[in-house]
Amino acid sequence: MKPLHRSTLNILCLLGAMLFGATSTVANPVVERWYSVDEVAQGKTLFLSHCASCHGQSAEGTAEWRKTDANGNYPPPPLNGSAHGWHHSLSVLEQTIAMGGARFGGVMPGFSGELSSDEARTTIAYFQSFWPEDVYLRWHEINIR
Ligand code: HEC
Repeated sequence: MKPLHRSTLNILCLLGAMLFGATSTVANPVVERWYSVDEVAQGKTLFLSHCASCHGQSAEGTAEWRKTDANGNYPPPPLNGSAHGWHHSLSVLEQTIAMGGARFGGVMPGFSGELSSDEARTTIAYFQSFWPEDVYLRWHEINIR
């Protein structure tokens, strides 16, 4: 094969760098979170008083959350981004908190009588503040559909 001319090589390097730059931005886009620092702080107070007894203070849930208990119920799952909370859009998360789990055979109580929808939203802000960037990004893509 004929050796490549230096300027051809330079162009190839430049193209490579451009491609690399483009893919690395796609791999690590930064999405702005929907909530403010204040909402997380308010959500923390509400979460600690209403949710932490089941889901844990840092939304860590139950380690064995995939296995049903003796009554055939699922234990409280983690909400800190390690389980599947990110499969649900913001409105589905809000509905779960308002109505509880009975609709889909679960045991979580509903909070529509205790928390306003704005308050419930801040509890979501609190547990989402534990979500790593990649989990939040996947959720964001579901949420904007
Ligand atoms: C009495 C225990 C209990 C309390 C209190 C509780 N939860 Fe739950 N939560 C559960 C259980 C158990 C599940 C699993 C589904 C079911 O059985 O209803 C669940 C599921 C969820 C889910 C769905 C998670 C997923 O991955 O699908 C969300 C979101 C959630 N809880 C948020 C909250 C928030 C926010 C609060 C406080 C306002 C709260 N929970 C209070 C027990 C509880």
